[in-house]
Amino acid sequence: MRIDVVTIFPEYLEPLNVSLVGKARARGQLDVRVHDLREWTHDRHNTVDDTPYGGGPGMVMKPEPWGEALDAIEASGASDTEPAAPVLVVPTPSGRPFTQQLAVELSAKPWLVFAPARYEGIDRRVIDAYAERWEVHEVSIGDYVLAGGEAAVLVITEAVARLLPGVLGNAESHRDDSFAPGAMANLLEGPVYTKPPVWRDRDIPEVLVSGHHGKIARWRRDEAFRRTCANRPDLIERCDPAALDKRDRELLAELGWVQGPDGRFGRAAEPVEQ
Ligand SMILES: C[S@@+](CC[C@H](N)C(=O)[O-])C[C@H]1O[C@@H](n2cnc3c(N)ncnc32)[C@H](O)[C@@H]1O
Repeated sequence: MRIDVVTIFPEYLEPLNVSLVGKARARGQLDVRVHDLREWTHDRHNTVDDTPYGGGPGMVMKPEPWGEALDAIEASGASDTEPAAPVLVVPTPSGRPFTQQLAVELSAKPWLVFAPARYEGIDRRVIDAYAERWEVHEVSIGDYVLAGGEAAVLVITEAVARLLPGVLGNAESHRDDSFAPGAMANLLEGPVYTKPPVWRDRDIPEVLVSGHHGKIARWRRDEAFRRTCANRPDLIERCDPAALDKRDRELLAELGWVQGPDGRFGRAAEPVEQ
């Protein structure tokens, strides 16, 4: 996969040299190219922002440098083996939430270009213009506002890169992750343990050393449900009833959940105090 990042803070992307992403780059599984947006400015001050039309506080990123940068990146692909158009990812708090499902979708694309903004964002015409020829995703990494999109690029790149074939040592290891499409789609992973078997008088759950794979798998799934009920009840409400087995239903009932007429689980109503 090729990833281009256009930013006014190239040094912010230094973490892409370390750990999993850094190793994937060193092995040639990931080709990351970081570009300084100011290279596509033509004034003495390398200006990338201007005042917003309509007034108001803050500045807006000018369309010209972004247009030149994205055109240059597109042209650079023409000579490579990449497809003619990359997929543009624009981090913004007003985008679609970044989820594991979207990470899976993006991991199947051969070429991503990230456009992390600063100030109040990028002049809208840039996104609209490229959406006419490229696939564009405006993506939010959470319901909060950062000072810039570079941290979001780090988040999205790491989530996508670990899904690329051969990047994780064990290809199976993301199958049981929280949110993994399939059996874990709306579940959080439960607790994990390692040696020693006793630490500060605390034992590990006995089932984990039983050697009984079926019981271990069931225990893990129960724990996943318990944790999801406690921390993300909204995910339980989204669970497809057809994906739940008999024990899942029993456990949810034990945890105080009730099945509605559509089969979906919801929290039992609290008794109204008189
Ligand atoms: C100060 S923010 C602009 C926020 C904008 N005024 C708004 O309220 O939607 C500057 C840039 O940081 C990035 N950013 C901030 N919060 C983000 C989030 N939750 N997810 C993704 N990117 C974010 C985006 O690139 C954004 O354009």
